[in-house]
Amino acid sequence: MRVFVTGAGGMTGTEVVDQSMKRGWACKASTHAQLDISDYEAVLSSVMSYRPDVVINAAAYTAVDDAERDEERATLVNGLGAGNVARAANEAGAAVIHISTDYVFDGRSTQPYLPTDKVGPINAYGRSKLAGEAAVRESARRHLIVRTSWVYSDKGHNFVLTMLRLGANNRAINVVDDQHGSPTSAADLAQALLHAAELMQRDEHVAGTYHYSNSGVTTWYDFAKTVFELRGGPVPTVNAISSASYPTPAQRPSWSVLDCRSFERDFNITSRPWAAAVGDVLRRLQ
Ligand SMILES: NC(=O)c1ccc[n+]([C@@H]2O[C@H](COP(=O)([O-])OP(=O)(O)OC[C@H]3O[C@@H](n4cnc5c(N)ncnc54)[C@H](OP(=O)(O)O)[C@@H]3O)[C@@H](O)[C@H]2O)c1
Repeated sequence: MRVFVTGAGGMTGTEVVDQSMKRGWACKASTHAQLDISDYEAVLSSVMSYRPDVVINAAAYTAVDDAERDEERATLVNGLGAGNVARAANEAGAAVIHISTDYVFDGRSTQPYLPTDKVGPINAYGRSKLAGEAAVRESARRHLIVRTSWVYSDKGHNFVLTMLRLGANNRAINVVDDQHGSPTSAADLAQALLHAAELMQRDEHVAGTYHYSNSGVTTWYDFAKTVFELRGGPVPTVNAISSASYPTPAQRPSWSVLDCRSFERDFNITSRPWAAAVGDVLRRLQ
């Protein structure tokens, strides 16, 4: 299997590359510095010269709050860029796996979102990612769009590392408790994507839009408390606050839970509980 990875320096990209190599697959890792996905000619020439079986697009503009004042840039990367990667993969005869987000939904549901549910992003990042989904569907027949949520790992910018840093410097921290979602370890996400890539290589009819996250539902507040409990040692006081008392430039959906059953069924994979995956990341950090 030959895998081409964009955004290879990010949380998910790093895991996809590491795990591809552990599987003994040939893997071309392109970081942002090496390949800007908003440049179609550059993407096409890199993908064509590598001739992969599958292209995994882990590149994205992920600064949710910054996207509010720079929606154009977010859309250039997450919309046009995603389309560029899919078009290049299609030209090279490769399948493409594109990662999208829970933020394509408005968060007003109280039931886990199905892949077929009505989308309606409430922030610029969500709109840019939705544009990317449309561009991928248009540009490549053999595409898989996998929406995920609340991604973290032992490196990069993410909630777990932010909490550990804040906890080390403060006796008490405030965390919002009115947004619900499913934290997802980048390692587990990468494993699921590579498993899907294998099936895509075997069956060229595998395509569509799916959801994948670790299982279970929590809030950022409960997620923070779990991080400290599992880590052990001194535990700061974690205060539950409302989103209204913690204003951010981008509004966040209050319900981000994804129904992953179609992914589990079609790819024969069971996602494990989110807290078990957090425990693994904390062990890696020690
Ligand atoms: N993080 C989450 O909570 C979350 C939730 C749902 C879905 N997702 C999706 O998951 C996917 C993977 O993101 P992640 O969580 O692994 O985030 P990440 O760690 O921020 O990784 C994204 C990578 O994309 C790179 N990138 C940005 N602009 C680029 C461009 N124009 N060309 C090429 N690379 C570019 C970034 O490089 P620089 O850092 O150098 O800019 C970074 O290495 C994304 O599609 C994201 O939308 C993430």
